[in-house]
Amino acid sequence: MIATMEPTQSARTGKSATAAASLEGICKNYGEVRALRNVNFAVRAGEVVALLGPNGAGKTTAVKLLLGLMQPNSGKVRVLGGDPTNPENRTRTGAMLQIGRVPETLRVREHIDLFSSYYSNPLPLKEVLASAGLEKFVDRKFGDLSGGQRQRVLFALAICGDPDLLLLDEPTVGLDVEARRALWDEIRNLVERGKTVLLTTHYLEEADALADRIAVINQGAIIAEGTPAEIKKQTSGKRIRCVTNLGTASLREISGVTEVREDREAVEIHAIEAEPVVRELLARDPGLSGLEITSAGLEEAFLALTQDNGRNGNHVTSSSN
Ligand SMILES: Nc1ncnc2c1ncn2[C@@H]1O[C@H](COP(=O)(O)OP(=O)(O)OP(=O)(O)O)[C@@H](O)[C@H]1O
Ligand SMILES: [Mg+2]
Repeated sequence: MIATMEPTQSARTGKSATAAASLEGICKNYGEVRALRNVNFAVRAGEVVALLGPNGAGKTTAVKLLLGLMQPNSGKVRVLGGDPTNPENRTRTGAMLQIGRVPETLRVREHIDLFSSYYSNPLPLKEVLASAGLEKFVDRKFGDLSGGQRQRVLFALAICGDPDLLLLDEPTVGLDVEARRALWDEIRNLVERGKTVLLTTHYLEEADALADRIAVINQGAIIAEGTPAEIKKQTSGKRIRCVTNLGTASLREISGVTEVREDREAVEIHAIEAEPVVRELLARDPGLSGLEITSAGLEEAFLALTQDNGRNGNHVTSSSN
């Protein structure tokens, strides 16, 4: 069930050991824009998977396909072993959309009561309020809540039906540090209770904190997939700063260099490992000076990973579908 102005119809709920979701060979275009290009991606029952990517990567599109809100141009979407539009699956799926909308004049309690009524075994109101940190706002109108508080209401609506599968599209956007951590704890609790969670995020830190597996998406394609440790290994690296007469083109040719950026009189080079690159730099430019080596931050390294992949844009080309 999704928090929108017009919630979808309710149906029977049920539990199944096979709660999972997958995109198989999915292509989705919006006119000229190739939002998803041959995406293969699966969330196994009981795990938390993070779809990590920058703006416009295709995360919300993937979530909407899994919710059956739109159809792919090609490929197969499967949710809980069936079609996402199957009414039973809908009531076993809870979702929080990025731009979730609910009527502004209804109070928090009324929203939760209304959404809970769509399910046969909803969670008690008290539990939902506690999970979403909304106890103090139960009688407040949605329209009178702050952005972060509204976000918590949308989370409450996603979980109130006690769904098996939760699709959370950037659930922590707009939350302050404390509320973000509290939501992370709630997501962990849900997983401990056997739920399956797919969440999207811009932040490697968030994916790292929550996910069993991370799929990095950029310009509509999955560019890396693995456990947080595996992804961090791929994305972490070193930042080498120096003053050199070598041009950026020749620096990019050095094996292991992932990114080169001119920064005032110096260059900043990102590399998976510093030592071989530094050896090569000194061999090519004995006059090199001002050498500094630091660890690239996680977010920065993630940017390097996605930047390189994103140079060509995601517009439909003549060879695409
Ligand atoms: N209805 C639409 N019509 C045309 N283009 C669209 C539509 N919805 C999304 N797009 C485009 O498809 C691409 C993927 O969008 P999507 O919303 O899935 O990205 P996202 O990863 O969720 O981004 P963000 O982090 O900003 O939420 C973008 O280039 C976007 O502009
Ligand atoms: Mg989005």
